[in-house]
Amino acid sequence: MQTAAQRIHRFSESMIREMTRVAMEHNAINLSQGYPDFPPHEAVTEAAVRAIRDGLNQYSVTWGYPPLREKLAELYTARLGWSVDPDVHVTVTCGVTEAITGAMLATLNPGDEIIILEPAHENFRPAAILAEAVPVAVPLEAPAYRLDLERVAQAITPRTRALLLNTPHNPTGRVFDEEEMAGLTQLLVEHDLTLITDEIYDRILYDGRVHICPGSREGLQDRTITIGGMGKTYAVTGWRLGYAIAPEPFARAIRPVHDYMTICAPTPLQAAAVTALDLPESYYRRQVQDYHRRRDIMMGILEEVGFQATPPEGAYYILADYANLPVPQATWPPLEFALWLTREVGVAVVPGSHFYSLPGYGATSVRFAYPKRFETLEEAGRRLVKGLGKARS
Ligand SMILES: Cc1ncc(COP(=O)(O)O)c(C=O)c1O
Repeated sequence: MQTAAQRIHRFSESMIREMTRVAMEHNAINLSQGYPDFPPHEAVTEAAVRAIRDGLNQYSVTWGYPPLREKLAELYTARLGWSVDPDVHVTVTCGVTEAITGAMLATLNPGDEIIILEPAHENFRPAAILAEAVPVAVPLEAPAYRLDLERVAQAITPRTRALLLNTPHNPTGRVFDEEEMAGLTQLLVEHDLTLITDEIYDRILYDGRVHICPGSREGLQDRTITIGGMGKTYAVTGWRLGYAIAPEPFARAIRPVHDYMTICAPTPLQAAAVTALDLPESYYRRQVQDYHRRRDIMMGILEEVGFQATPPEGAYYILADYANLPVPQATWPPLEFALWLTREVGVAVVPGSHFYSLPGYGATSVRFAYPKRFETLEEAGRRLVKGLGKARS
């Protein structure tokens, strides 16, 4: 008797969320899953409560609550440099996860290839597999994780249809620079490829960097599906709000997929998202300041205990190499190391190898997520110093 479709055997359940379960079981500090342990802005939570009380409790228009689409259209007209029409180009989804899967289902035919840079967020490959497309991995090499344009070019075949670009990047913290983006643009145009972006960390940037939407570049405007979300910027990952901004042919393809997968994103939370998008610039300035501090605390802890890591340029993760730690566990594979760190040291992380389908990569690394209160990070630091010191002796 057949119990599951073949495609189900080609990916497994989320390792990140599995590590969260292990963290809960062992009362570990959860630096595995990338969600804040601090609350959203009060105006945003109040807006959600108000929306429910005011009766916004039924389905919204399938492609998004109109005031939210209008807000997003205004924002992305400025960011993308073309006139985004809320009634045509914007689709509000249940998180970036749905937008990515929807974009692939809407644009890829069975057997089409899509290039995915690795390490990669865990949702990209399953999304391609669900679309019956072929994910083709191109590595970003540690420690600089630069985009290797020659390798991207070599990965392109007559079946290649699209490339997925996540910037700022999880888990490396890279923000792809002008040189990398110019070279990539040339390749995409030359080979007539679709670009699907994941820009969920577009407001978490360090050292004065500014986010430039890849879809605003000349040559990419007509071929890019720009995906973003509310979860990270506004500390509401559980609200499941994302969106895709796409030129008309793509938007028309994404909308029915979204309609039949989820009908609509939660209506009252879409209403509160309008309030979030209206927060003053001071909100973002403060947030970026706080994330600089968190990055510095986390990098400081990791250096102190002997991990090797490149400071992130954006987002809120550090992919750290443990091969030189002065503990016997430094010879263990990443899953065992991550489980040991969670159970014995009390700090949960994600095995680095989990972000690769390419064999041999991430073999001595783990990912730390630091969207946490300063006290949480400091306690994680104390546990790491104590736990690794104890393991050494
Ligand atoms: C790069 C990236 N894309 C997408 C997601 C998931 O986004 P959402 O919660 O909006 O589905 C995450 C969450 O960690 C992520 O890091």
